[in-house]
Parts: sequence; structure tokens; C-alpha cells
Amino acid sequence: MKLQKPKGTQDRLGRDIETYSELISLARSTFEGYNFKEIETPLFESYELFSRATGETSDIVTKEMYDFEDKGGRHIALRPEGTASVVRAYIENKLYAPEIQKPVKLWYHGPMFRYERPQAGRLREFHQIGVECLGAKNPAIDVEVMLMAYDFFEFTGLRHLKFHLNTLGDAASRKAYHQALVDYLTPYENELSEDSKRRLLENPLRILDSKEAQDIAILENAPSVQEYLSQESAAYFTAVREMLEALEIDYELDAKLVRGLDYYNDTVFELMTTIDGKELTLCGGGRYDGLVSYFDGPETPGFGFAIGVERLQLLLEQQEVSLSHDAGLQVYMAVLGERASYEASKLLYALRREGIVADRDYLNRKIVAQYKSAESYGAELIITLGDAEMASKIAKVRVVATRKEVEIPLAELYDNFAEIYMEILEENEG
Ligand code: HAM
Repeated sequence: MKLQKPKGTQDRLGRDIETYSELISLARSTFEGYNFKEIETPLFESYELFSRATGETSDIVTKEMYDFEDKGGRHIALRPEGTASVVRAYIENKLYAPEIQKPVKLWYHGPMFRYERPQAGRLREFHQIGVECLGAKNPAIDVEVMLMAYDFFEFTGLRHLKFHLNTLGDAASRKAYHQALVDYLTPYENELSEDSKRRLLENPLRILDSKEAQDIAILENAPSVQEYLSQESAAYFTAVREMLEALEIDYELDAKLVRGLDYYNDTVFELMTTIDGKELTLCGGGRYDGLVSYFDGPETPGFGFAIGVERLQLLLEQQEVSLSHDAGLQVYMAVLGERASYEASKLLYALRREGIVADRDYLNRKIVAQYKSAESYGAELIITLGDAEMASKIAKVRVVATRKEVEIPLAELYDNFAEIYMEILEENEG
């Protein structure tokens, strides 16, 4: 039977998983510097959580949900994103309690699931790094969280970063704009793409997102959300923009940026990079002030973003940025004979407990083959143990780079290896 991984999933190994781990460490150190704490939520939750949070007409719900009935008859979905889960956890764990400092700043990472057509950087199981900041509405939050995303990408070494920024306004602004858009688009209904025809009834704002040429042409003279903002939303957006400008953060106003999820209001953004003259999205997010109360929690504003890790790794590769650094072994132990094998395991255990990265031969091979293994592991030193070394209680220590060898009593290796290691390497430098 030929076993294969499911379509749209990946095995992660080698450099791929090293880079992934490096990105998670970088996210942790960046976000913790902004006082964000880590949260982990379940990989599956009730279907309703995601269908209600992301919107019944969103692509996630209509096409992409991995849902099933469990053995207890519950309608379950593998999580397609993290925001809904964090909001549920915020309510369920009563993080709104007055004794808990606000805003509550949380970050997470892990697999998400969407039934999409797989292509480069688009998978059915993919990974996100995300952040959510709950319990404060202040332009300083929007800007701080955006800056944190910017910092993270800068630390990865990625270049040509630029924000796309828009506002969707509050509920009243959205309602007015929704109507204006329907009024503008209805006369063109028959010329719209099939997807946009459907969206005209279900969710006209999403038409702005269309990549179809016929839609783009029609949208050229469409009304802009800016014209329909309530006074409050307009002032809020101005404050966000002024703060970004004060911090000299480069952004582009993008009236067509609506994002694919229904929970947003006011500020929405995407951070882009450019490769071969093409702008590509690195992360997306925005404000969602109605989501906690929608799930019967107290009125709680929220702001966050999520990064698609596979897409980021692909872009890092394209910009030739390498984050993985397989440091190699410090010590490889070449072993000849059964007696030496016991001693080798004992010494290895002692070295590892001192923090030395070490390994040995387990295949009883000839010495030359063992030396080759040491080289391929990138080992700095080889300690050879055989019958002669067992008899004399003196081991041979070989520097791989220079092929020089020194003899050191076994007892000293046990007692003082860290110092011996440094001395040998220093002597062999240059
Ligand atoms: P999103 O835009 O749906 O937002 O996803 C964020 C990122 O996840 C995307 O920019 C993309 O890089 C990555 N992504 C999405 N689908 C796939 C896929 N099928 N394969 C690979 N990568 C993918 C959210 O998920 C919101 N929860 C963001 C947010 C947090 N807003 C507020 N807080």
C-alpha cells in the first residue's frame, strides 16, 4: 500500500523546520518585547464559532471549512484562523475581569486548515503566527500592533516592506457605504464576474477585493468608503494615519482593501513586500470591536493580525534570506569494539550533561567510515575510543579542521571537558 500525505499538506523537516522554529523564536522575542503573552487554543472548535465570526458568506465558510460531525453528534471544524478562538478563550476564561490588566495582549502560532486549491504558498494545512490585543480602542494600539508586525519582518531580514491601509468605518459607516456600493454596482450587474454577481447580493464589499479584469474596470469609478465615514470613524482613521506619519512609517492608502473576513471595522491593513516588481501580502489584520460582544461577552474592542508562515518562508527564500543555522556537532565519538562502546556511551552522557552537542557511531563501522560521518555532521572534534585507549585510559582527540591529534587521559575528559574543548580549539585556530 502506497501511503501519501493528504493534498495540500506538508512534511516539515530539515532546513524547513529549522527556519520555522527560528521564525517562532523571533516572533516570541519580538512580541514579548511589546508585552504580548502566548496563548494556545484547540485545533478544533465548534463549527458555529468560525461560521459566525468570519461571516456566513465568507470564502472560509462557503468553501473552505474542514468540518465534520464527531461521534457525539457535535458539528466541529478544524480552525481556519485564530481570532475567533482567541475571542472565545477571552470570554470563556473571563479575561475581561477588572483585576486583569487591559488591554489583554496575546500571541499564538500553529496550524490552521482551509480547503483551498493548493499552490505555491497556499496549503490546506498551513501555519499562522498571530496576535490579538483586546480591551482598548486607541489609535496607539492600531499603530503599535502594526509596528510590531513591521519589526518582526525587519528582524527576519525581509526587505521592501510597505503597509497598505484602509478603514471600513463603524457599523453606521459600513451600512451607508454598503448601500452606496449596491446602488453603484447594480446597473453593471450583468457585466460583473460570476463571483461578484453572487457577492452583490451577499456581501458587496468583497467585490472590491476581486482580481477579475471586468470587475476591476467597473470598480474604477466606484464610491470610496472614505466618503461615507461617520465623523467618529473619520477622526479615528485620521489619528491612526497621523501617528504612523509621526513614526515615519511608510504606508499606502488602499480604498479597495476590505479583507476576506466579516468581523472587521475601522482600521484594516496588510503588510506587503515586493518581489520582481510584484507586491505580495505578508500579513493582514485590523480592528474588530464587535466580536466579543457578538459572542455575548462584554463590549470589548480588538485589534490583531496574522502572518502566513509558509508564504513568509517562500518569500524569504526568494529574497535569499537564510535563517536556518545547523551548527553541527561539537564532538563525534569514533568507537571500536564492545568495551569501548560502553565507555563511549558513558563519556557521551557526561559530555551531553555539560551541554556539549555530541554523537557517536552505532554501526560498528571501520574507522575511516566513522571519520567521514564526523565530517558530514560538521563535528569539530573526534574522540576515538578503541581497545588500545581502554587499556591505556588515554583517548585520542582529533581536530577535524586541521587533522591534528592530541592524547588526553579519559579521567580528564570526564572532569574538565568544557575547558579542554576550548583550549584545543584555540590552539588550532589560524
Ligand atoms: P487572513 O488574511 O485570512 O487573516 O490570513 C492571514 C494570513 O494567513 C494570510 O495573509 C496568508 O499569508 C495566510 N494564509 C491564509 N490562507 C492560507 C492558505 N490556505 N495557505 C497558506 N497561507 C494562508 C486571518 O486569518 C485573521 N485571523 C487575521 C487577524 C488576526 N485579524 C485580526 N486578528
